[in-house]
Amino acid sequence: MQERAAGVSVGKLSLTAFRSYDQLRLGVDRRPVVLTGSNGAGKTNLLEALSCLSPGRGLRGARLTDLGKRGAAAPWAVAAEVDTIDGPIRIGTSADPESVGDRRTVRIDGGTARGPAALAEVFSMIWLTPAMDGLFRESSSSRRRFFDRLVFAHDPLHARRLGAYERAMRERARLLKEGRRDPAWLSALEETMAETGIAVAAARRDLADRLSPVLAEGIAPFPGAGLTLEGSLETWIAEMPAVDAEQRFRDSLEASRPRDAEAGGAAEGPHRTDLAVVHRETGMEAYLCSTGQQKSLVIALLLAAARLEARRRPPVLLFDDVVAHLDESHRTALFSTVLELGLQAWMTGTDDDLFRPLAAEAQMFHIGDGQARRHEFV
Ligand SMILES: Nc1ncnc2c1ncn2[C@@H]1O[C@H](COP(=O)(O)OP(=O)(O)O)[C@@H](O)[C@H]1O
Ligand SMILES: [Mg+2]
Repeated sequence: MQERAAGVSVGKLSLTAFRSYDQLRLGVDRRPVVLTGSNGAGKTNLLEALSCLSPGRGLRGARLTDLGKRGAAAPWAVAAEVDTIDGPIRIGTSADPESVGDRRTVRIDGGTARGPAALAEVFSMIWLTPAMDGLFRESSSSRRRFFDRLVFAHDPLHARRLGAYERAMRERARLLKEGRRDPAWLSALEETMAETGIAVAAARRDLADRLSPVLAEGIAPFPGAGLTLEGSLETWIAEMPAVDAEQRFRDSLEASRPRDAEAGGAAEGPHRTDLAVVHRETGMEAYLCSTGQQKSLVIALLLAAARLEARRRPPVLLFDDVVAHLDESHRTALFSTVLELGLQAWMTGTDDDLFRPLAAEAQMFHIGDGQARRHEFV
């Protein structure tokens, strides 16, 4: 029997006018949660609702305006009671009635938080979806988003710093585009970018350093892997103290104003970092690996991060439609890792039988008709 001493889990979940759901209430404990149902039943929608309890756009990367139930009068809302190391905390997020754009309101224990980044300070959530199989063939921004989510789990302030960096960068880009060369204003924004940017790079590096030995080992039959962060900031923080790296970045921003005014964004910065992954056994770069190997590598990365954080800041795991795409040995390893780490994992699939090995350990629900019904294996 695995120990479940320290743990973080979602206890109660409620959805209002979210995607296909009118109103859903679900009570679970910290054991794994299995959601099965036919295609289109609402399994992914439910995991997506959970993923909105963390910063960013959720596991579909959807626009907030798509989250509301079509035709519903009420604004969408997701609320949960989360058991954290510091006790139970109520959190919630909903469409922002004041805003026509892509904004949402976040509440933590009854108070309005300044933004979604605050959710990462309460607890963390990491997920895997079939779309992530293509991670190593996609743009570097997908890999950065994937890795940053792991850093959210590792460092509760990372989301806030990343948000501050991106806001300052957008503001600077707007000034440059409008041709407003107000040097004091630009310098102030570049100061913020340098400070938060170097902190973002340092947090990513800290995770990469700690993750590397866990990742190298692998969780058989998932492969061992090597991981490197690549970018100018990564070079600078490796070569000089953080204050010097900040100065170096500030100088680079100032020098690239004319170029950035033309091209937008910023020539250098943590928004340009890429993640290079190597399949350890074959020495092959991940993007050259077979589709199956790439899928295994993504899961290996995620499980390594889960293992690393399990005793520190245990994340909640969301595996959408992952289990059905694994062969039996990988499926068994995934289940046993989840159980061994004692993390709350939410897993979806169409086929009950695939989850039979978890029957004694998991809470099973059938999803259908906008409801979740508890069931047991017979
Ligand atoms: N904003 C929305 N309002 C109402 N229904 C939606 C909305 N977005 C998606 N849906 C519906 O949700 C269903 C898909 O649910 P999903 O959770 O992806 O199913 P699955 O159980 O296969 O994972 C589809 O039938 C889709 O039409
Ligand atoms: Mg689905």
